[in-house]
Parts: sequence; C-alpha cells; structure tokens
Amino acid sequence: VLPVSGRGPKRQVGREAIVDITQSAAYPLNPFPHYERMRAASPVFHDDQSGSWHVFRYDDVQRVLSEHATFSSRMGGGNPSGSGQLFASSLITADPPRHRQLRSLVTQAFTPKAVDALAPRIAELTDELLAGIEATGSADLIKELAYPLPVIVISELMGIPAEDRERFKHWSDVIVSQTQAGPGNGKDDATTAEMIEYFLALIAQRRSQPGEDLISSLLSAEIDGQRLTVPELLGFCSLLLVAGNETTTNLIGNAVLCLAESPGTLERLLKEPALIPQALEEVLRFRSPVQSMYRVTVAEATVAGQPIPAGAPLVAWIGSANRDGQQFERAAVFDIDRSPNRHLAFGHGIHFCVGAPLARLEARIALEALLSRLPGLSVAPGAELERMESTIIYGLKALPATWQP
Ligand code: HEM
Repeated sequence: VLPVSGRGPKRQVGREAIVDITQSAAYPLNPFPHYERMRAASPVFHDDQSGSWHVFRYDDVQRVLSEHATFSSRMGGGNPSGSGQLFASSLITADPPRHRQLRSLVTQAFTPKAVDALAPRIAELTDELLAGIEATGSADLIKELAYPLPVIVISELMGIPAEDRERFKHWSDVIVSQTQAGPGNGKDDATTAEMIEYFLALIAQRRSQPGEDLISSLLSAEIDGQRLTVPELLGFCSLLLVAGNETTTNLIGNAVLCLAESPGTLERLLKEPALIPQALEEVLRFRSPVQSMYRVTVAEATVAGQPIPAGAPLVAWIGSANRDGQQFERAAVFDIDRSPNRHLAFGHGIHFCVGAPLARLEARIALEALLSRLPGLSVAPGAELERMESTIIYGLKALPATWQP
C-alpha cells in the first residue's frame, strides 16, 4: 500500500492503448469489468505515462507477490516523498534477509493464539459502539463501527492514549489518498512530518517508561545483538497504525455491502453464525480491501511471455486476480459457500499479511454483532455509495444503513 515514484522504459504492450485506471481521477466502485478486459486483452500491460507494468491474471499476480528474489518490495526508484518516508525502512518494503529478521519481531504478537486472547475486549468495544446507534434505526456504519473498532484495538495493543486516536483518522486519510503513483504534495509532507514527530515522542516516552505494549517490546527487541533503528521503529508504528486500520475498516464495510446485495444471505448468517468466517473469506475475494501491491524487478524477468527489464516498477492487481475465471468458477458471483477459496487478499509468500488473524477476528465479531443487534439491516434505500479516493484501497467513504430499531 505504498506510493512508487519510479519511472520505467516507455513501451506499449497489448493491442490497444487502454486507459489505465491508476491514472484516472475517479475511483470506480466497479473496477471489475476493467480488470476483466485487461486479463483478456493485456494481462501484462505497460503504462507509458506512469512507466509501471500492470499484472492482472491470478497466476502472474501470485508469482509477482511471492518471487521476492526477482520482484523486490523495496521502494521504487528515487527518494520517497510524503508518507513514503514512513515506510522506507519498514517490514513491508524489506527484502530478505532483513525482512525475516524484522518479521520475527512482530509475528509473535499476531499469532492466532495471541490474537484470540483479544476477542473478549473486541466484543466489548463492538457492543459499546453499537449501543450508541442501536435505537436510532439508521447510521453510517463506517463512521460508527467499522472505522473506530480497528483503531481502538491497535491503539490499545500499542499503548496509545485514547485522546490521541482522533488524530490518526486524519493521518490515515491523507496517507490513503496518497497511495497513488507520483510525488507527494506539500500538504501530505506536512502531515507526514506531524506523524513522525508524534511517533518520535511516543518512542522516547516508552524508552524512559517501558510498559506491556507492542512499542515497548519492539524497543527492547534485539536482532543479532542489535536494536531496531529509529527509522525501523517509525516504520513499524506507521505500518501497524495505518496499513492495518483502513484495510480492516473496509473489510467490515465491504462485508455489509456484499451481504446486503446478496438476497437471503444476511438471514442465513443470522441463523447460522458459524458460516460468518467463510462469508468473510468470500468478501475478501469479491471486494478485496487491498486491490494492488507494488514491486520492483531486480533483474530482467518474463511474466506471461512478456519480457520486463530490470529496475521496472510493477503493480500486481490482487483485485483482478481474485476475479480470475481461470482460478475461480463463476468468479463474478458472490458465493459464501465457495470452496476452495484461494484468494490473494492478504498477499502470498513471505510478505503475507501479519495482521490477517486480527483482521479476521475483528470482522467476525463485528459482523456477528451487526446481525444480531441490528435486525433487518440493509443499505439505506437510494443511498449513493462512493468509493474512497484510492485505486489501491477498496472501501466506501460512508455506508448509510437502516434497520428496525
Ligand atoms: C501485509 C492486506 C490487515 C499488518 C499485507 C499484504 C496485504 C495485506 C495484501 C501483503 C503486502 C505485500 O505483499 O507487499 C491486508 C488486508 C487487511 C489487513 C486486506 C484487512 C482486511 C492488517 C492488520 C495489520 C496488518 C490488522 C496489523 C495490525 C500488515 C503488515 C504487513 C502486511 C505488518 C507486512 C508483512 C510483511 O511485509 O512481511 N497486508 N492487511 N494488516 N499487513 Fe495487512
């Protein structure tokens, strides 16, 4: 979920110049027909304007995400600007061997067992948030539940004071709107500076007064006798606070949208809540919160017969892979009984999402509570749904919903 400012060679691939949605100012709620055309006509597409290569088919996306020796996660060419600075030394932009070392520091905090221990607190928070709107019969579910829940959970894990949480909303909005190719602008750089300043103060405070939180344990962690550097600590803070939050928010929001669109499904899940986890896997496939990830070729490579030079920025379209008919039968149909469901929504290979167990748990608890406490839940009739301003993140700006109070 990172901006890339690299420039590749100019070369036109494919039979026709197809407008690249990463260049468009609008963020379609339905980018899926575009992906389908690309899979058929230009599965490996070079965009002359941005210089990036775009990969659309399941097999190719999976390979690009996982073959780290060829497709590096390091930030694309030049000095990262804006929020890029925050992620420049982070896990998500590290290659082996550093990647394995950094990853070992956080995996312990996010094992399914450690995460399951959070379930009672997540349920309590969900109840508190829903108690505020239950009697009203209508609300924006993003604002009231899907956004605050993951922010509070991760803030508590990191020991961040409750009064500071509001600031993250603004920061993460700016960072999400910046997840596009191209340089940052002045406003974004100021926000980044503000975030860095905040995290530096937090790190200094934890250094002098360590607690039981994730930041304190990262501060005392050692890799081969070496402590994490300050940019690496900043990278962890930003990654956990921003990358994990918006995505989980959108998993919950996208789930309500998918279920509301699919006749009878909400009722079925209410009767059989044990089906909620598999329904969420289908939401992850059908409306993937992260639609694309970046890589850079470290050597010349061939993808689906197309030679790609070394040093080329590449976009792997997860959202397209997850709709590929070669991998999924009736790929355009939302089907909670789908099995197997080998979606790539959390990535694949060494960078597979560390937060997946937490995201799945939060979304399951949120959905169980929504179904049981808001009877007759549906998207507000006539509501105009708008997508967040990002081609990478897929989620709704707001989700006006109604139910029987
Ligand atoms: C990595 C998606 C929630 C932390 C990733 C990647 C994807 C992803 C696609 C792979 C990136 C790559 O290959 O370059 C999602 C989705 C989420 C979610 C769809 C919610 C539905 C979370 C949460 C956290 C988190 C809740 C933490 C609190 C991370 C971290 C990485 C990562 C630290 C980097 C792992 C590495 O590079 O080894 N995520 N994520 N994510 N995610 Fe998530």
